[in-house]
Amino acid sequence: MHRRPAIPPTALVRATLVWASLLCAGLLPSQTAAPGSKDEAFVPSPPPEQPLPFSHKLHVGLGAQCTDCHQIKDPGFLAGYPPTGTCMACHAAIKTESPHIQKLAELDKQGKQVPWVKVYKVPDYVYFSHDWHYNETKIRCQECHGPVAERDAIFQEKPVTMIACMSCHDRHKASTECNLCHDGQ
Ligand code: HEC
Ligand code: HEC
Ligand code: HEC
Ligand code: HEC
Ligand code: HEC
Repeated sequence: MHRRPAIPPTALVRATLVWASLLCAGLLPSQTAAPGSKDEAFVPSPPPEQPLPFSHKLHVGLGAQCTDCHQIKDPGFLAGYPPTGTCMACHAAIKTESPHIQKLAELDKQGKQVPWVKVYKVPDYVYFSHDWHYNETKIRCQECHGPVAERDAIFQEKPVTMIACMSCHDRHKASTECNLCHDGQ
């Protein structure tokens, strides 16, 4: 049985505040997004500068699976980033003369993680679970993140706006009730 992860209390507080302020301002949308509507305004953003030039194309090409590095751990909201130890399994011996790999090895030695810049994000008041979408619903990573395995640098190439969530839910005949994503109870 899938155990539904608990929504963090801070998200509930934030959601309540957002809702209250929008209600007061009379700004709440009077209806949901039209079925099948597209995020027409979406323009992919360029890759942010990352602390290390990590290439998915190269590393996935070596045969690694997405979930080898992005382990969806309990409570399942995040896909997360691999710890430096995962990288050092190879880089203790591979490309040790590279300044990038030396930086990686130094972080690992100090017990620190690489401060990756997050590309995809939703606000705290939105309830989103990787565990649910990937493990329970069997939606592939690429549907929401594009052809990552072909990318040298990751950039946001798919929208994660409310309309994007809604239009996929609509296609899959999944719920679009407001409290599915903004309440969690
Ligand atoms: C060898 C480890 C490794 C493998 C395998 C791997 N990733 Fe990653 N992934 C990373 C690291 C490190 C980052 C952070 C640096 C970056 O953004 O490129 C990252 C970042 C990402 C991001 C950007 C997340 C964000 O918002 O910051 C996405 C999306 C992603 N990976 C998806 C995938 C998918 C899909 C696959 C399988 C096709 C995959 N990854 C395979 C290590 C890996
Ligand atoms: C399965 C083994 C393996 C793992 C695990 C692995 N790498 Fe690599 N990595 C390689 C290989 C092979 C190369 C290419 C080496 C070459 O160009 O000769 C490479 C190249 C790189 C480079 C480019 C180095 C340069 O200066 O050219 C970076 C940066 C890098 N890896 C970072 C990472 C990070 C960060 C992780 C962990 C998230 C990681 N790697 C995990 C095998 C691995
Ligand atoms: C249904 C859409 C969807 C699917 C499927 C999905 N993601 Fe995500 N991903 C998102 C959203 C939305 C975020 C932003 C989440 C947030 O900020 O809380 C995200 C964030 C991430 C991040 C940034 C770190 C984090 O955990 O927030 C990584 C890495 C990532 N996804 C990798 C993956 C991988 C790997 C897969 C497949 C195993 C995958 N995602 C499947 C929508 C998806
Ligand atoms: C690629 C399609 C797709 C996208 C994009 C998508 N979803 Fe879903 N989502 C689904 C499907 C399918 C279900 C499950 C339907 C079922 O099992 O009845 C689901 C279920 C859910 C659930 C209920 C399960 C749970 O986790 O408690 C929530 C909440 C949810 N999605 C939030 C979101 C949010 C927030 C976004 C956007 C950031 C999003 N979804 C984007 C397809 C998608
Ligand atoms: C499938 C998930 C999902 C459902 C269902 C959903 N939302 Fe959202 N909502 C989001 C996401 C993701 C965001 C944040 C991204 C954005 O602003 O588009 C958001 C943001 C919002 C915001 C803040 C907008 C802003 O600009 O700050 C309001 C208000 C809101 N939603 C109201 C609603 C209402 C009303 C409903 C029901 C008609 C609803 N939501 C249903 C996912 C959802």
